[in-house]
Amino acid sequence: MAIPSENLVITGFMGTGKSTIGKKIAAKLKREFVDTDAEIERRAGMSIPEIFEVQGEAAFRAMETELARELATREKLVISTGGGMLMNEENRALLGSNGFVVCLVASPEALEKRLQGARGRPLAAQWRELYEKRRPIYELLPVHVDTSDRMPTAVIQEILQRWLSSL
Ligand code: S3P
Repeated sequence: MAIPSENLVITGFMGTGKSTIGKKIAAKLKREFVDTDAEIERRAGMSIPEIFEVQGEAAFRAMETELARELATREKLVISTGGGMLMNEENRALLGSNGFVVCLVASPEALEKRLQGARGRPLAAQWRELYEKRRPIYELLPVHVDTSDRMPTAVIQEILQRWLSSL
């Protein structure tokens, strides 16, 4: 079956593997890959921690929405979002309007391991609290794929199967 022209949007909490999986799927499908954090850093000329420090989190969230508006007009992309991007209803609607959204999930144990000593993630220190607060919103997303203790190839296979069977 042909891969649809809509975007594939990989989201989920910090440490669930969004960037790694997104990059690998894009290479497999020969599609352009957009990592929203990397794109925001490129445009701002600053790292995420610097944006948070200098301009504040609200400015970062505004940059995410601006980028979501732009990406919603494009197709055939594989997009990995920052972990908080789809907490915003407008961003969910925008990226869902022309994209199949997959929420990656991982066990608290796997997250702990992956987020330990995380650099470049201004919100990682309070991840447990944030995770509990956000969980009901991630649960609104219809497709969840677990990445705990699984090889990327298995995760990718499940994502592609779920995408194609959604058509
Ligand atoms: C954030 C997650 C980060 C990044 C920023 C805020 C969040 O992305 O967008 O630090 O609010 O969860 P990753 O999920 O790729 O770490």
